[in-house]
Amino acid sequence: MLALTVRPGQADSLELSDMPEPQPGPGELLVDAVAVGVCGTDREIADAEYGWAPAGEDRLILGHESLGRVRTAPAGSGFAEGDLIVGVVRRPDPKPCGACARGQFDMCRNGEYTERGIKEIHGYASQRWTVEPEYAVKLPTELGEAGVLMEPTSVVAKAWEQIDRIGGRAWYEPHTVLITGAGPIGLLAALLGVQRGLDVHVLDIVTDGPKPAAVAALGATYHSEPMDRLTERLNPDVIVEATGVSSLVIEAISGTAEYGIVCLTGVSVAGRKISVDIGGANRSMVLENDVVVGSVNANLSHFQQAADALTRADRTWLESLITSRSSLQNYAHAFEPDPNGIKHVIDIS
Ligand code: BGC
Repeated sequence: MLALTVRPGQADSLELSDMPEPQPGPGELLVDAVAVGVCGTDREIADAEYGWAPAGEDRLILGHESLGRVRTAPAGSGFAEGDLIVGVVRRPDPKPCGACARGQFDMCRNGEYTERGIKEIHGYASQRWTVEPEYAVKLPTELGEAGVLMEPTSVVAKAWEQIDRIGGRAWYEPHTVLITGAGPIGLLAALLGVQRGLDVHVLDIVTDGPKPAAVAALGATYHSEPMDRLTERLNPDVIVEATGVSSLVIEAISGTAEYGIVCLTGVSVAGRKISVDIGGANRSMVLENDVVVGSVNANLSHFQQAADALTRADRTWLESLITSRSSLQNYAHAFEPDPNGIKHVIDIS
């Protein structure tokens, strides 16, 4: 079976490998892959900056943004042959910590969680894969290939849940949200913001290509201008930071309205230092009761919320986010830099 693999920690080790056919364990589903999405995390793993192979192996099958069709499902699993599904990324740590023991593995406290295609368990970028039914989520067949957006949408559904919960600590009726970065996470965060009835603004550096059009098609407003000028004008109640760019992170912290919430979702490169007015940032956070929160991964309830959000979304809009497709054989294309592009998908079926 062909699979896209990498030797974590070794640059230029991304390749199409012949891997053993996966054998479903008791109760597990055997799935024919339809597609995988490629994101910044996959690129980081391919660049030897992140990622861990399963214990005792030196290669990791990549792919955590899955989409597949069930080939065989045990009776009573809740799934049937032909079902369109995605596999959940994270598995609880083995101890487990208190959060993992309660199904909140996205909030793992000891860092010993595992993640398919990222940390110690093989991913979904292979022709066939297996999954435990309790970590599989069914999608409406009509979603088709747009279902590959489920995993990034689950990450965004969790981020919005965090924002709602933090906002709920006092009277809260947000009006304006600013999203920094019009990549898949930023645009899906914009989709969920629009679905919540908010006035949604998206900031990115590119001025043409599919990003401005995708924002406009949502009924949101696209901006390409200095962040401080924009926050001063918009005074956003919420900022969802989806770039991980240090200067934007800092400007977000000082850029909200009173009782503002900044949700950080971008993973930045460590070690790049910039000069920051911490006193000014602290002053604005304290005097405004602001909150800055980081958000990563997603548990089963967020995958369910993501499935609902995608089902309610315009299918043509979702498909417009997939700006490049390649075959498994031509996987390298999905790893080439493309600042104007949005989501890169590898078709496997
Ligand atoms: C994935 C998350 C994962 C995170 C850190 C992201 O790209 O979408 O599921 O938890 O990387 O490994």
